Amino acid sequence: MRLTLSMLKADIGAVGGHTAPSPEVLARVREVITEGQRAVFLDSLVFHCGDDIVVALTHTRDPGDPEVHALAWEAFQEGTRVAQAQGLYGAGQDLLKDAFSGNLVGLGPQVAELQFEERPNEPVVLLAADKTEPGAYNLPLYLAFADPMHSPGLLLSPGLQAGFRFRVMDVEATEAEHVIDLAAPERLYDLAILLRDPHRFVIESIWSRKYPDEQAVAVSTTRLRNIAGRYVGKDDPVAIVRVQKIFPATEELGPCFALAPFVAGDTRGSHHLPLMPVPANTPASSYFCMPMVMGLAVSIKNGRFTRPVDMFSDPVWEHVRRHVVEKAMEMRRQGFVEPAMLPYGELEYTGIRDRLERLLEEFTVRS
Ligand code: 13P
Ligand code: 13P
Ligand code: MG
Ligand code: MG
Ligand code: MG
Repeated sequence: MRLTLSMLKADIGAVGGHTAPSPEVLARVREVITEGQRAVFLDSLVFHCGDDIVVALTHTRDPGDPEVHALAWEAFQEGTRVAQAQGLYGAGQDLLKDAFSGNLVGLGPQVAELQFEERPNEPVVLLAADKTEPGAYNLPLYLAFADPMHSPGLLLSPGLQAGFRFRVMDVEATEAEHVIDLAAPERLYDLAILLRDPHRFVIESIWSRKYPDEQAVAVSTTRLRNIAGRYVGKDDPVAIVRVQKIFPATEELGPCFALAPFVAGDTRGSHHLPLMPVPANTPASSYFCMPMVMGLAVSIKNGRFTRPVDMFSDPVWEHVRRHVVEKAMEMRRQGFVEPAMLPYGELEYTGIRDRLERLLEEFTVRS
């Protein structure tokens, strides 16, 4: 059966700051999704990462289906009403436009969609991140799909030996969507030249080379500030990763997150801190709102999800997190000095730049 998996995510308000949505807001979103219009989709999962609510839907329509997007939009709108009534912080934060015009892309929520012929068994990992940027998945995905040191399947499994094709988007290009396709391993160094700058170049999708129609990965690539023209919170991305057989195994994808790369995000979306792998439904950390990523492994049959298994909840990840916390504390000790705080180009709070402009006027030329 030809299936589409849609992940739609929005931050619509949180309790006591940018922590987590209230149980009532989550319940309202779930209610609209599950009871509202079951005709639109086959199955759904609703969960949260920090203060972002994720709706995952399986259906037989195409990616970008107006009714699927409209349902998620309605759920986020309804959830926002509850968030407003409860006085939650940042109620409706990611819903940047008032009118829905058939597609969520460009309205604020993050969207990742992947269409595939369902395999006899279809294992998939759903990733969601908070307090960071779409390029946050660049390094883990590169390691999982191009580096045999992390992904032994690239050497061991005939389905993976031809490598993968990476589609990378230049998210700074504003007029049209600029993408490039690079095949690994042949163009590994070209890929590295792009992926070294995760603020600008973002892996948008990854494809099998042995089976060119098989898409392995879809990542949301919206940059909110390109929509709003000002800082409105980070673009906390979602991603869908198909695993096993002709793709890396779940246990090859997982370790790629143990490195916890420094990514942009954290307090006021203005710092670099490591991307902490956390269990699903974890509130954002009061320790500077560290960037976080969660993963749910699910199996899908006839479009129905099994109960998910949490990728980052077994004992190994407790050890990883202790290391990541130390890495974060070392970086944060240098406070406002780069690279702890982001460079001016990435600082979306304009106040500091206005102040710099005034300071520059006070400079005098030494005679
Ligand atoms: P099983 O033998 O449990 O299926 O494990 C296969 C495998 O390769 C795990 O990495
Ligand atoms: P969110 O984008 O998750 O709301 O985080 C905002 C922020 O700046 C936290 O410090
Ligand atoms: Mg928020
Ligand atoms: Mg958020
Ligand atoms: Mg956000």
